[in-house]
Amino acid sequence: MRLKCQKKIYTNFKAMANRNLSSAKNARNDEFYTQFHDIEKEIAAYLEYSPDVFRGKTILCPCDDPYESNFFKYFALKFNEFGLKKLIATCYAGSPIANRELSLFPDENEENKTTRNPHKIEITDNDGVRNLYDVELLLANDRNHLTRLKGDGDFRSNEIKKLRDEADIIITNPPFSLFREFLAWLVEANKQFLIIGNMNAITYKEVFPLIKENKMWLGRGFNAGNAFFSTPLVKEYAEGVYNPDTGLVKFRNCCWFTNLDHGRRHQPLQLMSIKNNLRYNKKLKGKEFYDRYDNYDAIEVPFTEMIPNDYDGIMAVPVSFLDKYNPDQFEILGITQRNDDPYKIKKYTKADYPNANDLNARGVIIVEGKPKSMYARVLIKKK
Ligand SMILES: C[S@@+](CC[C@H](N)C(=O)[O-])C[C@H]1O[C@@H](n2cnc3c(N)ncnc32)[C@H](O)[C@@H]1O
Repeated sequence: MRLKCQKKIYTNFKAMANRNLSSAKNARNDEFYTQFHDIEKEIAAYLEYSPDVFRGKTILCPCDDPYESNFFKYFALKFNEFGLKKLIATCYAGSPIANRELSLFPDENEENKTTRNPHKIEITDNDGVRNLYDVELLLANDRNHLTRLKGDGDFRSNEIKKLRDEADIIITNPPFSLFREFLAWLVEANKQFLIIGNMNAITYKEVFPLIKENKMWLGRGFNAGNAFFSTPLVKEYAEGVYNPDTGLVKFRNCCWFTNLDHGRRHQPLQLMSIKNNLRYNKKLKGKEFYDRYDNYDAIEVPFTEMIPNDYDGIMAVPVSFLDKYNPDQFEILGITQRNDDPYKIKKYTKADYPNANDLNARGVIIVEGKPKSMYARVLIKKK
């Protein structure tokens, strides 16, 4: 019975891959699927810190077709080991793979397949599931349910909001195009979460305040911020972005955003006395000390490893510092991308510089008498 099930599912997975290719032209640009080992590695960080983090919890994966999503597969496999109470995954009607995998409902056939509603899967028991092809076995268990959604599975719908409210932790890679909305949707319900996003999101006005107030932080992360996702989309990518052999697309600057605690946040960053360090003095190009901002009461620290241990004022550090941020060691004060930042000490007018508006939206350093606007910097202070 088990072998027959597995064979059927494997055949359907192969058929699905072919259908994905033909449906790809119609797909939206949100179809990038997270790899199993990236999820496994990230989750390990939370388990190392708190082995019972998922015990008795209901997890919702709200952008996750159970047959495609490795989030669903990972938590279904680990259901008993983690002591989960319930796992729910829902898929979205807009997904080019939704409903194309298996005939799961008795009234479905080849003709009406594409018009079917997306579904929701609820797992309360993973008895007997030992590998990724056992999704059908999960469903054979009376305690698990696969049901059609009434609507289109949009996370903003009341139907999915109810599931959000029922869940303790929401874990997924949400649609890239709706990141802001998705985060607001999590925050309004005051949920624990772990989601994938782009590092650039840190500077968004809806996102940075959460980081500043320690209501959200970065997770363990991908290797050097490079993440690889599989995609059913067949389109032109710049060289080196898509690997046709693996079917994986490379994204740079990817990170995990979460409000689940993990160990790295509590490791102190090693600091050094810069004045006595010749290697870093070279980076300062013979200057006596760090550049000082013209419009912020802060010094410019060009690399995280150059944060001095002997400076008590405000330091403007690269956004990537947040990867190493320990809230017991530093306080986050602001970000230089804000017009209304309380740490801004100067506002330029057109009489000062014709590009005053641009300069006012950035941190500015005066180089050889001319204003140089800098990349976004996080303003921090030692605790
Ligand atoms: C970046 S993909 C990630 C898929 C899956 N979570 C994973 O990590 O493999 C985002 C998914 O969200 C789905 N999606 C797009 N808009 C959505 C919406 N409004 N509500 C729910 N899901 C949506 C897309 O169809 C897509 O499958």
